[in-house]
Amino acid sequence: MKVLAIETSCDETAVAVVEGDGIQKQVGVLSNVVSSSLALHQKTGGIVPEVAAREQLTSIIPLVKSALEKSGLEFSKIDGVAVTRGPGLIGSLLVGVETAKVISDSMKIPLLPVNHLMSHLFSNWLEREAPLPSFPALGMIVSGGHTDLILLKTEKEFSWIGGTRDDAAGECFDKCARLILDAPYPGGPAISKYSKKTDDQQAKILPRPMIHEDSLEMSFSGLKTAVLHEVQNRSPLSEEDKISLSKDLENAIVEVLMVKLKKSLEKHTIKSVLVGGGVVANDLFRENLLNMSGELNVPVYFPDIKYCSDNAAMVGAAAIVGGVIEASADKVFADPSLKF
Ligand code: KG4
Ligand code: ZN
Repeated sequence: MKVLAIETSCDETAVAVVEGDGIQKQVGVLSNVVSSSLALHQKTGGIVPEVAAREQLTSIIPLVKSALEKSGLEFSKIDGVAVTRGPGLIGSLLVGVETAKVISDSMKIPLLPVNHLMSHLFSNWLEREAPLPSFPALGMIVSGGHTDLILLKTEKEFSWIGGTRDDAAGECFDKCARLILDAPYPGGPAISKYSKKTDDQQAKILPRPMIHEDSLEMSFSGLKTAVLHEVQNRSPLSEEDKISLSKDLENAIVEVLMVKLKKSLEKHTIKSVLVGGGVVANDLFRENLLNMSGELNVPVYFPDIKYCSDNAAMVGAAAIVGGVIEASADKVFADPSLKF
């Protein structure tokens, strides 16, 4: 099955052509193109939804053409058009969803609506060598807007079992990067870069919220407030302050994520762990995931760095591996607050 996939949930406009046939096989990527309006938002300090959507309107058609051209395929060889229908920014989602509907309708290609959050988990099938993940699986999505724990009984049956009750882990990286380093979005890479400037494990000054609670809930807004107080108390920050706060922050976020992931594994019997989302690009998190896999003897899957942040290849993978059923265009709508 060859799928043309479109992702426009946030500031990226991404289009890919992928090929695969279900959960037993890897999903091959024939083309994967992306254009981001990030540079425009860095001037304003945050993503301006209207600006993102306008950019997406101008880039979507050229990107569809480019993805098809790079894949060496024509519309006549495409078996499905997959598109992110939510969650995300409404203006941005509309650009992708309406484009996909028009392609589907005019080219008579089945329309396959996809949940953006689940597509981060299905990114684990992209260009993956065997063994592939098996079910039941535990999923952890760690992105700029979401931190969720999902139990996947099968590729089609899943339920939310935990997650953050306020800020997402990525959001905490982003807001604290602004406070500590005055770094623009996305702040995670900047914190990680600073943290690597020292090998010293810092004294634990920052809190590890809800880490000792048995629940699978998390909270990152208190951590952000603690960072704010530290920054105010030490202002102006020295280079050492920036390094030690970055290190402690990265340690705190990764520690909370790992403890809650391990707690989920105690509560649920599963065959594999699937982790996805922008924060999975973090080296310390990846290292911890690998260690946990060895310690607990459980297969842990996380995607190649290029498939951690938003991309369309993962949307195609979600349609194929998740067995998304064809939907009629008049029943598919962009849903900014789509849940699981
Ligand atoms: O999945 P994603 O690209 O977009 C959303 O759907 O939200 O995730 C973006 C998030 C941002 O918060 C960004 O700071 C974070 O991923 N991120 C990182 C790293 N690279 C990206 N966080 C920590 N360390 C990184 N290396
Ligand atoms: Zn995302």
